[in-house]
Amino acid sequence: MEFIKVEKAYAKHVALIQLNRPKELNALNLKLMGEIRDSLKELDQDDEVRTIIITGNERAFAAGADIKQMAGKGTIDMWKVDQFSTWDQINKTRKPIIAAVSGFALGGGCELAMTCDMMIASETAQFGQPEIKIGVMPGAGGTQRLTKALGKAKAMELVLTGKFISAEEAFGYGLVNRVVPVELYLEEAVKLAKEIATMSPIAVQMAKESVKRSFEVHLEEGLHFERKNFYMLFSANDQKEGMNAFVEKRKPDFKGN
Ligand code: HXC
Repeated sequence: MEFIKVEKAYAKHVALIQLNRPKELNALNLKLMGEIRDSLKELDQDDEVRTIIITGNERAFAAGADIKQMAGKGTIDMWKVDQFSTWDQINKTRKPIIAAVSGFALGGGCELAMTCDMMIASETAQFGQPEIKIGVMPGAGGTQRLTKALGKAKAMELVLTGKFISAEEAFGYGLVNRVVPVELYLEEAVKLAKEIATMSPIAVQMAKESVKRSFEVHLEEGLHFERKNFYMLFSANDQKEGMNAFVEKRKPDFKGN
């Protein structure tokens, strides 16, 4: 990997993907995007990994797609490279993904963080969709995910002016789970990832799938989907382990089968 660092066992059952193009504020060039996509695919297949964290560095999570790489491109060039397969991969990864965000999360970087399942932000984090300032618009879900989180008026303002919002403001909109001092944002994300990793990975993945489903379908269909997943969990050993451990007053040891 050239532009990201991947640690499969950063903590017990927790993998870390760190964007590593610091001089360019982790601008997402094609190679970097491909590396995120491929490593997520691999981590999703690895039974030892139960939760995944994506992070950048203190100054930047990611300042968006690489403008220098895109500047001379035409429609067909952009279509051919299929950069959105990275966002598609995040979206279809079964394991929970936590974005640990500090500094700039802009354009494709904001969309990357918003496509993750949860977000821990440092108090220096700034979110925005500044594509309008360079003559384009968000392309990796910004107009949809930001609008769902912030509501129409505020999302419209951000998308049409390119203004940034602070971590505190993002927290107020429910875009991030919590805001912590800059020296703690990764630690806090790891703490959350480790806590989730102690649960049954099958139950976690089915619960994640059900929560995500609520964004796609009407309530009745979502409830039906949830119920099917609930029933399905009763065929896993983890369900017996979890319930027996409760009855026997001990901690469960989930094996993921
Ligand atoms: C390429 C970038 C970049 C980007 C920063 N850099 N963002 N290079 N693409 N998106 C580079 C700068 O050119 C500079 O390199 C170095 O990183 C440091 O950036 P500075 O601008 O000197 O830092 P600063 O003055 O602190 O300003 C930070 C900033 C600004 C506000 C984040 O860099 C900025 O506005 N960046 C662009 C943000 C943006 O428009 N993002 C949306 C991109 S479009 P050099 O070598 O010059 O010193 C997008 C579409 C997504 O994301 C579609 C889905 C993929």
